Amino acid sequence: MKKGKLTGYRGRIINPISPTEVEDIRDGILVVDIAGKIVSCGPYKGDGPPFKKGTVPFDKVVDLRRHLIIPGLVDCHLHLPQLDCRGKHGATLLDWLKHYIFPAEMAFRDLRVVDDVGKRFFKKLVLNGTTTAGIYVTVHEKATDHAFKLAKACGIRAVMGKVMMDQNAPEGLKEETRWSLKQSEMLSEKWHCTSGGRLRYAFTPRFAPTCSMDLLKEVGKLAQKTGAYVQSHIAETAEENEEVKRIYPKLPDAFSVFEESGCAGPKTILGHAIYMSDDEYRRMAETGTKIAHCPTSNFFLKSGWMPAERVESAGVTYGLGTDVGAGTSMSLFTEMRHADYTQLRASVVPAKALYLGTLGGAKTLSMEDEIGNFAPGKCADFLVLDIRQVDYHYRLSELTTDEVLSLLMYRGDGRVVLDAYVGGKKLDVDALKIDRRVPHGFHF
Ligand code: GUN
Ligand code: ZN
Repeated sequence: MKKGKLTGYRGRIINPISPTEVEDIRDGILVVDIAGKIVSCGPYKGDGPPFKKGTVPFDKVVDLRRHLIIPGLVDCHLHLPQLDCRGKHGATLLDWLKHYIFPAEMAFRDLRVVDDVGKRFFKKLVLNGTTTAGIYVTVHEKATDHAFKLAKACGIRAVMGKVMMDQNAPEGLKEETRWSLKQSEMLSEKWHCTSGGRLRYAFTPRFAPTCSMDLLKEVGKLAQKTGAYVQSHIAETAEENEEVKRIYPKLPDAFSVFEESGCAGPKTILGHAIYMSDDEYRRMAETGTKIAHCPTSNFFLKSGWMPAERVESAGVTYGLGTDVGAGTSMSLFTEMRHADYTQLRASVVPAKALYLGTLGGAKTLSMEDEIGNFAPGKCADFLVLDIRQVDYHYRLSELTTDEVLSLLMYRGDGRVVLDAYVGGKKLDVDALKIDRRVPHGFHF
Protein backbone atom coordinates (compact mmCIF):
# COMPACT_ATOMS: atom_id res chain seq x y z
CA MET A 1 0.00 0.00 0.00
CA LYS A 2 1.53 3.30 -1.09
CA LYS A 3 1.52 6.21 1.33
CA GLY A 4 -0.95 9.00 0.75
CA LYS A 5 -3.31 6.78 -1.17
CA LEU A 6 -6.11 6.16 1.30
CA THR A 7 -8.12 8.73 3.22
CA GLY A 8 -10.28 7.84 6.21
CA TYR A 9 -13.25 10.02 7.12
CA ARG A 10 -13.97 9.50 10.80
CA GLY A 11 -17.39 10.37 12.20
CA ARG A 12 -20.77 8.94 12.94
CA ILE A 13 -21.81 7.07 9.80
CA ILE A 14 -25.40 6.22 8.94
CA ASN A 15 -25.51 3.87 5.98
CA PRO A 16 -28.77 2.77 4.31
CA ILE A 17 -28.95 -0.93 3.51
CA SER A 18 -32.58 -1.46 2.45
CA PRO A 19 -35.95 0.26 2.91
CA THR A 20 -36.08 -1.16 6.44
CA GLU A 21 -32.44 -1.55 7.44
CA VAL A 22 -29.90 1.07 8.28
CA GLU A 23 -26.42 0.70 9.72
CA ASP A 24 -25.38 3.22 12.38
CA ILE A 25 -21.68 3.29 13.20
CA ARG A 26 -21.24 5.77 16.05
CA ASP A 27 -17.48 6.03 15.70
CA GLY A 28 -16.96 4.97 12.14
CA ILE A 29 -14.43 5.36 9.40
CA LEU A 30 -15.12 5.56 5.70
CA VAL A 31 -11.95 4.70 3.81
CA VAL A 32 -11.65 6.12 0.29
CA ASP A 33 -8.92 5.44 -2.25
CA ILE A 34 -7.29 7.91 -4.58
CA ALA A 35 -9.66 6.91 -7.39
CA GLY A 36 -12.56 8.06 -5.21
CA LYS A 37 -13.85 4.54 -4.51
CA ILE A 38 -14.90 3.21 -1.12
CA VAL A 39 -12.42 0.72 0.29
CA SER A 40 -14.27 0.05 3.53
CA CYS A 41 -16.82 1.40 5.95
CA GLY A 42 -16.77 0.21 9.54
CA PRO A 43 -15.98 1.06 13.14
CA TYR A 44 -12.89 3.13 13.82
CA LYS A 45 -10.50 1.03 15.79
CA GLY A 46 -8.04 3.70 16.81
CA ASP A 47 -5.56 2.22 14.42
CA GLY A 48 -4.05 4.83 12.14
CA PRO A 49 -0.56 4.13 10.88
CA PRO A 50 1.33 2.00 11.95
CA PHE A 51 -1.49 -0.51 11.37
CA LYS A 52 -2.55 -3.35 13.56
CA LYS A 53 -3.10 -6.71 11.91
CA GLY A 54 -6.59 -7.27 10.49
CA THR A 55 -7.54 -3.62 10.27
CA VAL A 56 -8.07 -1.54 7.16
CA PRO A 57 -5.19 0.89 6.82
CA PHE A 58 -5.48 4.48 5.76
CA ASP A 59 -2.88 7.15 5.39
CA LYS A 60 -4.74 10.24 6.38
CA VAL A 61 -7.70 10.81 8.67
CA VAL A 62 -10.21 13.61 8.32
CA ASP A 63 -11.62 14.08 11.79
CA LEU A 64 -15.37 14.59 11.57
CA ARG A 65 -16.23 13.21 14.98
CA ARG A 66 -18.88 15.80 15.81
CA HIS A 67 -20.50 15.26 12.45
CA LEU A 68 -22.64 12.78 10.63
CA ILE A 69 -21.69 11.09 7.38
CA ILE A 70 -24.46 9.84 5.06
CA PRO A 71 -24.47 8.97 1.35
CA GLY A 72 -25.03 11.84 -1.10
CA LEU A 73 -28.67 12.56 -1.86
CA VAL A 74 -30.19 11.54 -5.19
CA ASP A 75 -32.79 13.78 -6.82
CA CYS A 76 -34.37 11.70 -9.59
CA HIS A 77 -36.31 14.47 -11.31
CA LEU A 78 -36.01 18.25 -11.62
CA HIS A 79 -35.99 20.98 -14.24
CA LEU A 80 -32.99 23.30 -14.51
CA PRO A 81 -34.76 26.16 -16.35
CA GLN A 82 -37.51 26.24 -13.73
CA LEU A 83 -35.29 27.30 -10.83
CA ASP A 84 -36.83 30.77 -10.57
CA CYS A 85 -40.36 29.53 -11.34
CA ARG A 86 -40.68 28.02 -7.89
CA GLY A 87 -43.61 29.28 -5.90
CA LYS A 88 -45.59 30.75 -8.78
CA HIS A 89 -49.12 29.84 -7.98
CA GLY A 90 -50.96 28.14 -10.81
CA ALA A 91 -54.42 26.68 -11.06
CA THR A 92 -53.59 23.33 -12.66
CA LEU A 93 -50.59 21.64 -14.20
CA LEU A 94 -51.49 22.53 -17.79
CA ASP A 95 -52.34 26.10 -16.82
CA TRP A 96 -49.14 26.52 -14.86
CA LEU A 97 -47.06 25.15 -17.74
CA LYS A 98 -48.63 27.61 -20.15
CA HIS A 99 -48.38 30.70 -17.96
CA TYR A 100 -45.03 30.33 -16.23
CA ILE A 101 -43.01 27.39 -17.43
CA PHE A 102 -43.08 27.66 -21.20
CA PRO A 103 -42.10 31.39 -21.14
CA ALA A 104 -39.24 30.64 -18.72
CA GLU A 105 -38.03 27.82 -20.96
CA MET A 106 -38.26 30.01 -24.05
CA ALA A 107 -35.77 32.38 -22.43
CA PHE A 108 -33.19 29.57 -22.67
CA ARG A 109 -32.55 30.38 -26.30
CA ASP A 110 -30.28 33.04 -24.77
CA LEU A 111 -27.13 31.43 -23.41
CA ARG A 112 -26.62 34.26 -20.93
CA VAL A 113 -29.84 33.20 -19.23
CA VAL A 114 -28.77 29.56 -19.28
CA ASP A 115 -25.44 30.47 -17.74
CA ASP A 116 -26.99 32.55 -14.97
CA VAL A 117 -29.78 30.12 -14.05
CA GLY A 118 -27.55 27.07 -14.56
CA LYS A 119 -24.79 28.28 -12.25
CA ARG A 120 -27.24 29.10 -9.46
CA PHE A 121 -29.06 25.82 -10.03
CA PHE A 122 -25.95 23.64 -9.59
CA LYS A 123 -24.73 25.68 -6.65
CA LYS A 124 -28.05 25.15 -4.88
CA LEU A 125 -27.94 21.43 -5.56
CA VAL A 126 -24.53 21.20 -3.92
CA LEU A 127 -25.59 23.37 -0.98
CA ASN A 128 -28.55 21.08 -0.44
CA GLY A 129 -26.47 17.90 -0.51
CA THR A 130 -27.70 16.55 -3.83
CA THR A 131 -24.79 14.71 -5.38
CA THR A 132 -26.72 12.99 -8.19
CA ALA A 133 -29.61 14.43 -10.17
CA GLY A 134 -31.91 13.55 -13.06
CA ILE A 135 -32.26 16.85 -14.88
CA TYR A 136 -34.46 18.22 -17.68
CA VAL A 137 -33.08 21.20 -19.58
CA THR A 138 -35.13 22.77 -22.42
CA VAL A 139 -35.66 22.00 -26.10
CA HIS A 140 -32.56 24.05 -26.91
CA GLU A 141 -29.51 22.08 -27.97
CA LYS A 142 -27.05 24.83 -27.05
CA ALA A 143 -28.66 25.33 -23.64
CA THR A 144 -28.39 21.62 -22.92
CA ASP A 145 -24.79 21.53 -24.06
CA HIS A 146 -24.03 24.46 -21.77
CA ALA A 147 -25.82 22.80 -18.86
CA PHE A 148 -23.57 19.76 -19.32
CA LYS A 149 -20.50 22.02 -19.27
CA LEU A 150 -21.70 23.54 -15.99
CA ALA A 151 -22.41 20.09 -14.50
CA LYS A 152 -18.93 19.01 -15.51
CA ALA A 153 -17.32 22.01 -13.84
CA CYS A 154 -19.51 21.69 -10.75
CA GLY A 155 -18.48 18.09 -10.15
CA ILE A 156 -21.97 16.74 -9.56
CA ARG A 157 -23.22 13.41 -10.96
CA ALA A 158 -26.02 13.98 -13.48
CA VAL A 159 -28.38 12.23 -15.85
CA MET A 160 -29.52 15.04 -18.08
CA GLY A 161 -31.10 15.75 -21.42
CA LYS A 162 -32.63 18.12 -23.91
CA VAL A 163 -36.42 18.28 -23.67
CA MET A 164 -38.20 17.03 -26.82
CA MET A 165 -41.59 18.38 -27.96
CA ASP A 166 -42.91 18.06 -31.50
CA GLN A 167 -46.65 18.67 -30.97
CA ASN A 168 -49.06 20.59 -28.74
CA ALA A 169 -46.32 22.97 -27.68
CA PRO A 170 -46.15 26.74 -28.11
CA GLU A 171 -44.35 28.31 -31.05
CA GLY A 172 -40.73 28.76 -30.10
CA LEU A 173 -40.63 25.48 -28.19
CA LYS A 174 -42.25 23.15 -30.70
CA GLU A 175 -39.65 21.24 -32.69
CA GLU A 176 -39.55 19.52 -36.01
CA THR A 177 -39.43 15.79 -35.23
CA ARG A 178 -36.23 14.87 -37.13
CA TRP A 179 -34.42 17.97 -35.89
CA SER A 180 -35.28 17.14 -32.28
CA LEU A 181 -34.01 13.58 -32.73
CA LYS A 182 -30.82 14.63 -34.51
CA GLN A 183 -29.89 17.20 -31.89
CA SER A 184 -30.65 14.82 -29.05
CA GLU A 185 -28.55 12.12 -30.66
CA MET A 186 -25.64 14.52 -31.10
CA LEU A 187 -25.83 15.57 -27.45
CA SER A 188 -25.97 11.95 -26.36
CA GLU A 189 -22.89 11.14 -28.43
CA LYS A 190 -21.06 14.09 -26.92
CA TRP A 191 -22.01 13.68 -23.27
CA HIS A 192 -23.28 10.19 -22.41
CA CYS A 193 -20.91 8.49 -19.98
CA THR A 194 -18.35 11.28 -19.93
CA SER A 195 -16.27 12.63 -17.02
CA GLY A 196 -15.54 9.09 -15.88
CA GLY A 197 -19.24 8.12 -16.09
CA ARG A 198 -20.30 11.04 -13.91
CA LEU A 199 -22.36 12.60 -16.70
CA ARG A 200 -24.99 10.62 -18.60
CA TYR A 201 -27.49 11.42 -21.25
CA ALA A 202 -31.25 11.03 -20.99
CA PHE A 203 -33.49 11.34 -24.02
CA THR A 204 -36.18 13.60 -22.61
CA PRO A 205 -39.54 13.53 -24.42
CA ARG A 206 -41.43 15.92 -22.12
CA PHE A 207 -44.67 13.92 -21.79
CA ALA A 208 -47.07 12.08 -24.06
CA PRO A 209 -49.26 15.09 -25.00
CA THR A 210 -46.30 17.02 -26.48
CA CYS A 211 -44.68 14.07 -28.27
CA SER A 212 -45.77 12.28 -31.43
CA MET A 213 -45.64 8.50 -31.61
CA ASP A 214 -43.14 8.91 -34.42
CA LEU A 215 -40.81 10.84 -32.09
CA LEU A 216 -41.29 8.42 -29.21
CA LYS A 217 -40.58 5.37 -31.38
CA GLU A 218 -37.31 6.89 -32.56
CA VAL A 219 -36.42 7.77 -28.96
CA GLY A 220 -36.99 4.13 -28.02
CA LYS A 221 -34.60 3.02 -30.78
CA LEU A 222 -31.98 5.64 -29.89
CA ALA A 223 -32.04 4.71 -26.22
CA GLN A 224 -31.57 1.05 -27.17
CA LYS A 225 -28.72 1.88 -29.52
CA THR A 226 -26.84 4.23 -27.23
CA GLY A 227 -27.55 2.75 -23.79
CA ALA A 228 -28.65 6.22 -22.66
CA TYR A 229 -31.66 6.89 -20.44
CA VAL A 230 -35.20 8.01 -21.20
CA GLN A 231 -36.97 10.41 -18.84
CA SER A 232 -40.49 11.73 -19.10
CA HIS A 233 -43.65 12.46 -17.11
CA ILE A 234 -46.68 10.21 -16.80
CA ALA A 235 -50.18 10.40 -15.28
CA GLU A 236 -49.52 13.46 -13.15
CA THR A 237 -53.12 14.66 -13.32
CA ALA A 238 -56.44 13.23 -14.47
CA GLU A 239 -56.65 16.10 -16.97
CA GLU A 240 -53.32 15.04 -18.51
CA ASN A 241 -54.61 11.47 -18.82
CA GLU A 242 -57.68 12.77 -20.68
CA GLU A 243 -55.37 14.61 -23.09
CA VAL A 244 -53.40 11.45 -23.67
CA LYS A 245 -56.62 9.52 -24.33
CA ARG A 246 -57.71 12.19 -26.81
CA ILE A 247 -54.37 12.17 -28.64
CA TYR A 248 -53.86 8.40 -28.55
CA PRO A 249 -57.47 7.08 -28.70
CA LYS A 250 -56.40 3.59 -29.77
CA LEU A 251 -54.14 3.05 -26.78
CA PRO A 252 -55.76 1.68 -23.62
CA ASP A 253 -53.87 3.74 -21.03
CA ALA A 254 -51.02 6.18 -20.36
CA PHE A 255 -48.29 3.59 -19.89
CA SER A 256 -49.10 1.90 -23.19
CA VAL A 257 -47.78 5.05 -24.97
CA PHE A 258 -44.35 4.18 -23.57
CA GLU A 259 -44.73 0.44 -24.22
CA GLU A 260 -45.97 0.94 -27.78
CA SER A 261 -43.08 3.27 -28.60
CA GLY A 262 -40.37 1.06 -27.09
CA CYS A 263 -39.63 3.72 -24.48
CA ALA A 264 -40.45 1.54 -21.46
CA GLY A 265 -37.49 -0.22 -19.84
CA PRO A 266 -35.03 -0.32 -16.95
CA LYS A 267 -33.35 2.95 -17.92
CA THR A 268 -36.61 4.84 -18.23
CA ILE A 269 -37.64 7.12 -15.36
CA LEU A 270 -41.18 8.48 -15.39
CA GLY A 271 -42.13 11.36 -13.13
CA HIS A 272 -45.27 11.25 -10.93
CA ALA A 273 -47.22 8.12 -12.00
CA ILE A 274 -50.23 9.07 -9.89
CA TYR A 275 -53.30 8.16 -11.94
CA MET A 276 -52.48 4.63 -13.03
CA SER A 277 -54.17 1.26 -12.77
CA ASP A 278 -52.71 -1.72 -10.95
CA ASP A 279 -52.25 -3.31 -14.34
CA GLU A 280 -50.12 -0.35 -15.49
CA TYR A 281 -47.98 -0.56 -12.33
CA ARG A 282 -47.61 -4.30 -12.94
CA ARG A 283 -46.42 -3.66 -16.50
CA MET A 284 -44.07 -0.94 -15.28
CA ALA A 285 -42.48 -3.45 -12.91
CA GLU A 286 -42.37 -6.11 -15.62
CA THR A 287 -40.49 -3.79 -17.99
CA GLY A 288 -38.26 -2.48 -15.18
CA THR A 289 -39.49 1.09 -15.76
CA LYS A 290 -38.87 3.36 -12.76
CA ILE A 291 -40.85 6.15 -11.09
CA ALA A 292 -39.59 9.51 -9.84
CA HIS A 293 -41.96 10.25 -6.97
CA CYS A 294 -42.31 14.03 -6.49
CA PRO A 295 -44.59 14.66 -3.50
CA THR A 296 -43.84 18.37 -2.96
CA SER A 297 -44.68 19.12 -6.56
CA ASN A 298 -47.82 17.01 -6.32
CA PHE A 299 -48.86 19.03 -3.25
CA PHE A 300 -48.05 22.36 -4.88
CA LEU A 301 -50.00 21.74 -8.08
CA LYS A 302 -52.70 19.84 -6.21
CA SER A 303 -52.09 17.02 -8.64
CA GLY A 304 -52.84 14.26 -6.13
CA TRP A 305 -50.61 11.71 -4.46
CA MET A 306 -48.81 8.68 -5.76
CA PRO A 307 -50.32 5.55 -4.18
CA ALA A 308 -47.06 4.24 -2.73
CA GLU A 309 -48.59 1.05 -1.36
CA ARG A 310 -49.94 0.02 -4.76
CA VAL A 311 -46.68 0.99 -6.48
CA GLU A 312 -44.70 -1.05 -3.97
CA SER A 313 -46.95 -4.07 -4.07
CA ALA A 314 -46.63 -4.10 -7.87
CA GLY A 315 -42.84 -4.14 -7.35
CA VAL A 316 -42.05 -0.86 -9.14
CA THR A 317 -38.77 0.78 -8.10
CA TYR A 318 -39.05 4.45 -7.22
CA GLY A 319 -36.95 7.27 -5.85
CA LEU A 320 -37.63 10.87 -4.90
CA GLY A 321 -37.61 13.95 -7.11
CA THR A 322 -37.98 17.60 -6.13
CA ASP A 323 -39.47 18.39 -9.54
CA VAL A 324 -38.25 21.98 -9.28
CA GLY A 325 -40.00 24.28 -10.26
CA ALA A 326 -43.39 22.67 -9.36
CA GLY A 327 -41.40 21.49 -6.34
CA THR A 328 -40.66 24.60 -4.31
CA SER A 329 -37.65 23.21 -2.43
CA MET A 330 -34.24 22.08 -3.69
CA SER A 331 -33.83 19.82 -0.65
CA LEU A 332 -34.35 16.07 -0.66
CA PHE A 333 -35.08 16.34 3.07
CA THR A 334 -38.23 18.29 2.17
CA GLU A 335 -39.10 15.55 -0.29
CA MET A 336 -38.63 12.90 2.40
CA ARG A 337 -41.13 14.54 4.76
CA HIS A 338 -43.61 15.15 2.00
CA ALA A 339 -43.29 11.51 0.93
CA ASP A 340 -44.61 10.77 4.41
CA TYR A 341 -47.24 13.55 4.60
CA THR A 342 -48.78 12.56 1.29
CA GLN A 343 -49.40 8.95 2.31
CA LEU A 344 -52.60 9.06 4.29
CA ARG A 345 -52.75 5.41 5.31
CA ALA A 346 -49.12 4.30 5.45
CA SER A 347 -46.22 5.95 7.16
CA VAL A 348 -42.77 6.55 5.68
CA VAL A 349 -40.52 5.86 8.66
CA PRO A 350 -37.19 7.75 8.90
CA ALA A 351 -35.02 4.80 7.78
CA LYS A 352 -37.17 4.39 4.70
CA ALA A 353 -37.05 8.12 3.98
CA LEU A 354 -33.24 7.98 4.02
CA TYR A 355 -33.33 4.93 1.76
CA LEU A 356 -35.62 6.66 -0.74
CA GLY A 357 -33.35 9.70 -0.88
CA THR A 358 -30.18 7.67 -1.38
CA LEU A 359 -30.09 3.98 -2.36
CA GLY A 360 -33.68 4.01 -3.66
CA GLY A 361 -32.78 6.97 -5.87
CA ALA A 362 -29.64 5.18 -7.04
CA LYS A 363 -31.76 2.15 -8.03
CA THR A 364 -34.20 4.40 -9.84
CA LEU A 365 -31.32 5.79 -11.89
CA SER A 366 -29.83 2.27 -12.37
CA MET A 367 -26.75 3.33 -10.42
CA GLU A 368 -27.07 1.09 -7.37
CA ASP A 369 -23.78 -0.65 -8.19
CA GLU A 370 -22.01 2.71 -8.13
CA ILE A 371 -23.65 4.94 -5.52
CA GLY A 372 -26.41 5.04 -2.88
CA ASN A 373 -24.61 3.61 0.14
CA PHE A 374 -21.15 2.79 1.47
CA ALA A 375 -20.61 -0.71 0.07
CA PRO A 376 -16.92 -1.26 -0.79
CA GLY A 377 -16.19 -0.61 -4.46
CA LYS A 378 -18.85 2.09 -4.85
CA CYS A 379 -17.99 5.71 -5.56
CA ALA A 380 -17.42 7.82 -2.47
CA ASP A 381 -20.40 10.17 -2.80
CA PHE A 382 -21.15 11.37 0.71
CA LEU A 383 -22.25 14.29 2.85
CA VAL A 384 -20.86 15.71 6.04
CA LEU A 385 -23.78 16.95 8.13
CA ASP A 386 -24.10 19.06 11.25
CA ILE A 387 -27.46 18.39 12.88
CA ARG A 388 -26.91 21.29 15.30
CA GLN A 389 -27.85 23.54 12.41
CA VAL A 390 -31.41 22.31 12.95
CA ASP A 391 -31.20 23.44 16.55
CA TYR A 392 -28.06 24.25 18.44
CA HIS A 393 -28.97 22.25 21.53
CA TYR A 394 -28.87 18.86 19.78
CA ARG A 395 -25.90 16.63 20.56
CA LEU A 396 -25.32 14.00 17.89
CA SER A 397 -23.87 11.56 20.42
CA GLU A 398 -27.04 11.69 22.52
CA LEU A 399 -29.47 10.81 19.75
CA THR A 400 -30.61 7.37 18.59
CA THR A 401 -30.51 6.44 14.91
CA ASP A 402 -34.21 7.06 14.57
CA GLU A 403 -33.98 10.44 16.29
CA VAL A 404 -31.19 11.60 13.98
CA LEU A 405 -32.97 10.45 10.83
CA SER A 406 -36.28 11.83 12.05
CA LEU A 407 -34.72 15.27 12.63
CA LEU A 408 -33.21 15.25 9.16
CA MET A 409 -36.39 14.08 7.53
CA TYR A 410 -38.82 16.44 9.22
CA ARG A 411 -36.62 19.48 9.90
CA GLY A 412 -33.58 19.09 7.68
CA ASP A 413 -32.63 21.47 4.88
CA GLY A 414 -29.54 22.85 3.19
CA ARG A 415 -28.23 24.36 6.44
CA VAL A 416 -27.20 20.96 7.83
CA VAL A 417 -25.01 20.17 4.83
CA LEU A 418 -21.43 21.17 5.60
CA ASP A 419 -19.72 19.41 2.70
CA ALA A 420 -20.65 17.22 -0.23
CA TYR A 421 -18.26 14.76 -1.89
CA VAL A 422 -18.61 13.09 -5.27
CA GLY A 423 -16.18 10.32 -6.15
CA GLY A 424 -14.06 11.23 -3.14
CA LYS A 425 -13.75 14.85 -4.24
CA LYS A 426 -15.16 17.64 -2.12
CA LEU A 427 -17.48 19.80 -4.23
CA ASP A 428 -16.57 23.45 -4.31
CA VAL A 429 -19.77 25.51 -4.08
CA ASP A 430 -17.94 28.34 -5.78
CA ALA A 431 -16.61 26.24 -8.65
CA LEU A 432 -19.04 28.03 -10.95
CA LYS A 433 -18.30 31.70 -10.85
CA ILE A 434 -21.56 33.46 -10.11
CA ASP A 435 -21.46 37.22 -10.51
CA ARG A 436 -24.24 38.00 -8.11
CA ARG A 437 -23.50 36.30 -4.79
CA VAL A 438 -26.44 34.45 -3.32
CA PRO A 439 -26.62 35.43 0.35
CA HIS A 440 -25.72 32.65 2.77
CA GLY A 441 -28.69 30.76 4.09
CA PHE A 442 -30.73 31.54 0.99
CA HIS A 443 -30.48 28.10 -0.50
CA PHE A 444 -33.51 26.16 0.58
N1 GUN B 1 -45.47 17.65 -17.27
C1 GUN B 1 -44.91 18.04 -18.43
N2 GUN B 1 -43.99 18.98 -18.23
C2 GUN B 1 -43.96 19.20 -16.93
C3 GUN B 1 -43.18 20.07 -16.09
O1 GUN B 1 -42.33 20.84 -16.54
N3 GUN B 1 -43.43 20.01 -14.76
C4 GUN B 1 -44.36 19.16 -14.22
N4 GUN B 1 -44.55 19.16 -12.91
N5 GUN B 1 -45.07 18.35 -14.98
C5 GUN B 1 -44.89 18.36 -16.30
ZN1 ZN C 1 -41.14 17.42 -13.95
